[in-house]
Amino acid sequence: MSRTEAIAVDVSGAAPLSIRAGLLAIPVAAGELGDRRGRLRELDRRLGGHLLAAVRAERFEAKAGELLVLPTLGRLPAERVALLGMGARADGGEEAGFEPLRMAAGRAARAARGGLLAVALPELAPGRIAAAARAVAEGALLGAYRFEAYRREAKRAPRPFDRLAVVVPGPQARAAEVRAAVELGGALAGAVAWARDLVNLGPSECTPTRLASAAARLAADAGLECTVRGPRQIAALGMGMFQGVTRGSAEAPRLVTLVHRPRGAAARRRPVVLIGKAITFDSGGLSLKPTESMVTMHSDMAGSAAVVAAMKVVAALAPPFPVVGLFGACENMPGGRAYKPSDVLTAFDGQTVEVTNTDAEGRLVLGDLLAWAAATWKPAAMIDVATLTGACMVALGPTTAGLLGPDGPVVDAVAAAARRAGEDVWRLPLVEALAEQLKSERADLKNTGDRMGGAISAAHFLAAFARGTPWAHLDIAGPSHAAKERGYVPAGGTGFAVRTLVEFVRGWKPT
Ligand code: BES
Ligand code: MN
Ligand code: ZN
Repeated sequence: MSRTEAIAVDVSGAAPLSIRAGLLAIPVAAGELGDRRGRLRELDRRLGGHLLAAVRAERFEAKAGELLVLPTLGRLPAERVALLGMGARADGGEEAGFEPLRMAAGRAARAARGGLLAVALPELAPGRIAAAARAVAEGALLGAYRFEAYRREAKRAPRPFDRLAVVVPGPQARAAEVRAAVELGGALAGAVAWARDLVNLGPSECTPTRLASAAARLAADAGLECTVRGPRQIAALGMGMFQGVTRGSAEAPRLVTLVHRPRGAAARRRPVVLIGKAITFDSGGLSLKPTESMVTMHSDMAGSAAVVAAMKVVAALAPPFPVVGLFGACENMPGGRAYKPSDVLTAFDGQTVEVTNTDAEGRLVLGDLLAWAAATWKPAAMIDVATLTGACMVALGPTTAGLLGPDGPVVDAVAAAARRAGEDVWRLPLVEALAEQLKSERADLKNTGDRMGGAISAAHFLAAFARGTPWAHLDIAGPSHAAKERGYVPAGGTGFAVRTLVEFVRGWKPT
């Protein structure tokens, strides 16, 4: 579907101006435009003074997000050059996980017109080259992504470039660290594209069964253990909340587990467990959503796509501790058998839950999975990723994920991982007083609190099932889906959280 995986990626130590590319892209910070020496002057000289003339004519100020593309008309081996505005970020935004550089590379990818895309790095200290090169590879490959499955052949856009060269200073080009970083960037971009493809499918195609078989196929290819359970096994496990949510749907639910198990004694270490929300369509159930809110609810399985995609990269990295990825896939539908507001469900761990709103379904499925995972694997760390609440988008806007959980090393490590990965994550507090909102007159808990602080009360609900297990919750309701394209992010499914999860696993110190 997506064609990013077919793009060959290379690290080049050649002088940028000597590269025979379709498009040569060069990051430019605002301060560099007036610089009398530097590489822009050299480029301008080679282009007979036309570069700086074009900069003035187009009023290019190198603001973040700005792009200036010029044909070289035979004056350079490259057919076209692109200046990528970086604003004040002369270092590519290292403190933000090189996200500004990643965004710029994504814009360069969109501007390419076939052949080789060569992207130069900003001038950086040698110790920073590997991480910057990885960000460029990710940005360019992710920017090349298109979802064309539903477009007829004649209307499909051609791939924007066939090969990518990440251009680094000569001596760095053979450094194993740089090559490994670019390779990891390519693997991550491929995994993110895999997640985006699934999120972009229509909900009648991406059913729980289809989602499970996609995960099973990925597991087989990656060498992960995989178990797929159906409705009878879910019932036998006693997951009453998960079962409640599935009841209105004609599609059978699936409980899917993927395991990376290292060889030898390391297999006995306590695992990292990643759990994704996998509602393949969220109509709201009997607490039906209005049409406008329902049209993006095919993406309510984005958390599970991110978890499975991350497991693909985890398998390749093969860390010396077990990593488990799991999700409970089902639809949330109205119907004659649907669960009802005022039903009381019994969770895996025996807690009873009064349903006050059938549209708060994600926390019900996740509650069962958190309790089950905690009991089954005794995780060293447990992270759930979920398109859980509209309230999180009200709090943080559409591009930032909420991070919640008890103070401790897992929440801290997720925040640090997101920063290194260049994904926008912000912590919200588990305000103790809001836990009261989930008290029920009829059962141990109810599934909704008040409208205000909705992302927090949802996290409190999950906390009641995670209990003592070290745990963090990522609410990706906003960033999992983009209304329109920006940088390397196309409209539609974004694959958000894949990079953060992989970075978390890379940074995790087993105990
Ligand atoms: N899947 C939605 C949350 C969501 C909303 C994700 C918008 C992406 C964009 C979730 O199941 C839901 O419906 N949450 C309710 C909770 C409420 C009933 C307490 C919500 O946010 O309105
Ligand atoms: Mn819902
Ligand atoms: Zn939902």
